[in-house]
Amino acid sequence: MKHIPVLLNAVKDTLGDIHGRTIVDCTFGAGGYTREFLESGANVIAFDRDVNVVPDAKEIQKQYGDRFRFINAPFSEINQLDQNDFDDVVFDLGISSMQIDNGARGFSFRFDAPLDMRMDTRTKLTAADLIKKLSDSELADILYEYGDIKKSYMMAKILKKELPETTFQLRDLIKNPNDVAPIFQALRIAVNDEMGQIKSALSNVHNLLRPGGRCICVTFHSIEDRIVKNTFRKWTEVGGDPRLPTVKVAEYKPLRTMVPSNEELVKNPRARSAHMRGVIKV
Ligand SMILES: C[S@@+](CC[C@H](N)C(=O)[O-])C[C@H]1O[C@@H](n2cnc3c(N)ncnc32)[C@H](O)[C@@H]1O
Repeated sequence: MKHIPVLLNAVKDTLGDIHGRTIVDCTFGAGGYTREFLESGANVIAFDRDVNVVPDAKEIQKQYGDRFRFINAPFSEINQLDQNDFDDVVFDLGISSMQIDNGARGFSFRFDAPLDMRMDTRTKLTAADLIKKLSDSELADILYEYGDIKKSYMMAKILKKELPETTFQLRDLIKNPNDVAPIFQALRIAVNDEMGQIKSALSNVHNLLRPGGRCICVTFHSIEDRIVKNTFRKWTEVGGDPRLPTVKVAEYKPLRTMVPSNEELVKNPRARSAHMRGVIKV
């Protein structure tokens, strides 16, 4: 299934008139955001660490030429872009419909496949490898923190004993059906170091943005959302972030926070846990 962009109108409204601006789209996916930005007259530099999106990126390249550049790398590498050279930085986190619906990639318990879950298949550790590598308590922490699994230590012990190699083997080890989706999600977050990635990228956004530049994040997990909320709170307080120069006024102002409307949720139930937050550099 082609990915339906989430909160796209909210992101566009929050960015305002982007004609002639240069936007970093940190999560290209199916190019839903990128195309809209390009159509509105912006220049776009897009990141995605999934090699499977490269053909879509090449198509867009043909159409928009040097107004578009694609970087097939994790967005933590935004620190390699030129400083103070960008108007806006946008993140639409989590995974795409193409990833979850591709039965061979191991993200979904609906399809039998090797227990992989890597967004970037050039990295080494699959979910099956991670279960083997971690100690019982490290694995339990992941299940508890990212999946809110109450009996996380017991579950971790079962996984360490059985060492599932496939999605169906993992699914069949989980006795409580309500725990299946959260356990798959927790492992995916750990395999892809999703929280580390967003923390690292946000710590570099300040150096990239020109005055008047916006940073907008769409999140899908409460911990991810908390990281973004706390980071933006620090930026919008005077002296809140020791890495920012000490000034008498805050360097950022908060923009509105949005969640999907009922209308969007009817069209796209996968948008259900989304939150959009933004700040503007003054
Ligand atoms: C929710 S989708 C983005 C959808 C996109 N906004 C659209 O409208 O088509 C998230 C995408 O971000 C990519 N991604 C997630 N974390 C990433 C990271 N740390 N670095 C680079 N790409 C990442 C995933 O591979 C996926 O393709």
